[in-house]
Amino acid sequence: MKTLNRNGTDTGQLVVVSNRLPIVISRKSGGQWDIKAGSGGLVTSLEHVLREREGKWIGWLGASGNLDGVEPALESASEGAGYQLESVPLTAREVDKYYFGFSNEIIWPLFHDMVSRCNFDPSYWKTYQDVNKRFAGAISDHSEPDSFIWVQDYHLMLVAEYLRLAGDTRKLGYFLHIPFPPLDIFVKLPWRFQILRALLNFDTLGFQTLRDTRNFIGCVRHMIKGTRITRREDSYVIDVLGREVSVGSFPIGIDFTGFDARARSDDALRVTRMLREKMPDRQLILGIDRLDYTKGIPERLHAFQNAMRRYPELIGNVSLIQIVVPSREDVPEYKTMKENVERLVSEINGEFTRPGWVPVHYLFRSLSDTELVAYYRASDISLVTPLKDGMNLIAKEFCASNVDENGVLILSEFAGSASQLRRGALLINPHDVLGTADAIYRAYVMGDAERRTRIRQLRRTVERSDVFWWTDSFLRLAMEHEYRVLPSQDYFVPSADVHDNAPSSVVVFSDEAVNGMRDEYT
Ligand code: G6P
Repeated sequence: MKTLNRNGTDTGQLVVVSNRLPIVISRKSGGQWDIKAGSGGLVTSLEHVLREREGKWIGWLGASGNLDGVEPALESASEGAGYQLESVPLTAREVDKYYFGFSNEIIWPLFHDMVSRCNFDPSYWKTYQDVNKRFAGAISDHSEPDSFIWVQDYHLMLVAEYLRLAGDTRKLGYFLHIPFPPLDIFVKLPWRFQILRALLNFDTLGFQTLRDTRNFIGCVRHMIKGTRITRREDSYVIDVLGREVSVGSFPIGIDFTGFDARARSDDALRVTRMLREKMPDRQLILGIDRLDYTKGIPERLHAFQNAMRRYPELIGNVSLIQIVVPSREDVPEYKTMKENVERLVSEINGEFTRPGWVPVHYLFRSLSDTELVAYYRASDISLVTPLKDGMNLIAKEFCASNVDENGVLILSEFAGSASQLRRGALLINPHDVLGTADAIYRAYVMGDAERRTRIRQLRRTVERSDVFWWTDSFLRLAMEHEYRVLPSQDYFVPSADVHDNAPSSVVVFSDEAVNGMRDEYT
């Protein structure tokens, strides 16, 4: 059905497609399903557009096996959400090979520059193709001729190609939430050509940062014959045999106003005060991460240990609260990592604990929304040190929740958010234990005036490019070919991590491979 958007432009229905539906599903003791609306920036920003455009969200339920009775529960969840939720069923074997296997044992580590963690099991590829094809089928079944289809993230890179093969000529958009690697890393993927070619079947491709966009453009330039690439401001247009693909960077944001308001609420203030009373007379340093080897948690713990060894005045005067949110525990690398983190925490606590003071408080669980903002608000320093991260929204959430304007953000230069937040944050290289330890000490001794200046700048940046800006900018490029530059001068790519136009000597393709590509494109 056609609707008019806020600008009066004629637009069709919006269909968002992601691996998971934005829900939390569980089975009650009587066997009935309980489906609650999910939270998070993506849902918050998209739900108003989906309601406005009689939209749909297509994805996996997050459960497999016997799903009897789930449809009515999903139907009532759709009514509550104000837009339609459509599920793509997956068997346990498919979840194993497509989600845990191809997505999280190959693409996730490779795209985060961690090739040694990849398990290039060839059987994963077939299931990844099958599931992507199933998603394409679900899109065809559940959309209208004038729908705009917006596919999210690395689980679904082949969907546009399957839609095109089925004769679909509609506008298709894609956003990658994780980094896109430079050419010399991407080419290690056994299915590099298939994936790049499949991505070029979308009309609009969005990446988190200019660095990711340039990496992608570099791969296309060197690997795909017969394309013409034109730069328009910070976006690019790729001409693939007469069809145009727009490529741009859209750093995802958060609902700044929502975090700010929640952090000021009475409930959050009560929890904030409780935390400060339980851990009095010290500065609180906060680390919050999903359990993941990309987050640099062991490196951070080593840096904290080093800081206490080299700056003894920190002992008794700071505590690190490390919260780890359970995730993907069926992937072997994640299990090992959890054990590693727990061993390091006990080692540090064994070395420094004194009566009445513990250096590291470790929590392995999720937090409620109120607890989360209360931890942010109670903290004096936020330590966000991923080895590589698409964006890292914890850094932005900390800024938005720091309503007292006295917190210091220590941020890895390899987080996508560093390109926006570099001016107000203390940037560190997470592999540099001494440098990170020095930054911890620098944050600890930083005076009130400098803290205030920095956090105010950070809060302004996070507020200006919030998640609503992100949705709006992507959809404008995708639907109206209008590229909107970031509402801030802070946008900058850390020079250490730029891989634009990687020299072709980095990798030499055999003629066979190149000709193979040319054949497929002509
Ligand atoms: C990253 C990905 C998301 C994913 C999230 C949680 O942020 O970019 O697509 O949903 O991690 O991971 P999970 O595997 O639990 O869905």
